[in-house]
Amino acid sequence: MRADVGRWAGMTIEMREGYEGTGPGAITPDGCAVELYSRLPVGEEPDIIASAVPAGAHILELGSGVGRMTHPLLERGFTVTAVDESAEMLERVRGARTIRGAIETLDLDEKFDVVMLASFLVHAGDVEVRRGMLDVCRSHVADGGCVLIQREGENYHTDLPRERHDPSGFTIRMLSAEPVGDGVNSVRAEYAFPDAVWTQTFLARPLSKEEFEGALGEAGLRVDRYLTEDRVWVRAVPVEA
Ligand SMILES: C[S@@+](CC[C@H](N)C(=O)[O-])C[C@H]1O[C@@H](n2cnc3c(N)ncnc32)[C@H](O)[C@@H]1O
Repeated sequence: MRADVGRWAGMTIEMREGYEGTGPGAITPDGCAVELYSRLPVGEEPDIIASAVPAGAHILELGSGVGRMTHPLLERGFTVTAVDESAEMLERVRGARTIRGAIETLDLDEKFDVVMLASFLVHAGDVEVRRGMLDVCRSHVADGGCVLIQREGENYHTDLPRERHDPSGFTIRMLSAEPVGDGVNSVRAEYAFPDAVWTQTFLARPLSKEEFEGALGEAGLRVDRYLTEDRVWVRAVPVEA
């Protein structure tokens, strides 16, 4: 279920049930703050992605936000099509084609060298949303292409509370993960900057390695290789027919 939280360009923006965000500026239906994502620095993600795909590939980036990863990928010579349901996020993307819409129902008459589903979106609380997202990854990847997924680390829901001080001057706190039934947790995170604090509450379904690989299999995908030691970044490929 969704509740209205505002309007943009005549379209109603709705907040997803179980998701919430606080802090300055616009908040997306899944509780992300546009201003926060404009400030968050990018880490090693673009290098991990670049190491796993052909130079100059066309990447379909699902859930791009403001382009935190899009922009460094463009700088590395990739072409990016950025998809997000938030117009306010997409407004800040520069140099990439943008498409506004829900990932799980995306139906472009096009295939891409690389489809990317980052930011733990594969842990959607709603199994049907997760299925839809992985089906979209499979249906939009070209023959010989690959799907890159960023999944949660092993202790994401258990090693709590925890915090990380970023050298650029803010602190991320993962505060709690409370079970809300059906294997789903309500996760609460806080991002504290010297001049502003944002929080996000969202639903996430922990997936063991086996459960994750099973979900890929249902969508006609299989792990080609884990790209990082912690198995957070995954390169998947279509299962041969
Ligand atoms: C946590 S933010 C991360 C943004 C970007 N990947 C990054 O790393 O900076 C998640 C983004 O995914 C978008 N999003 C979440 N669920 C979505 C869905 N079902 N369909 C389309 N966009 C979605 C949100 O609007 C938000 O911009």
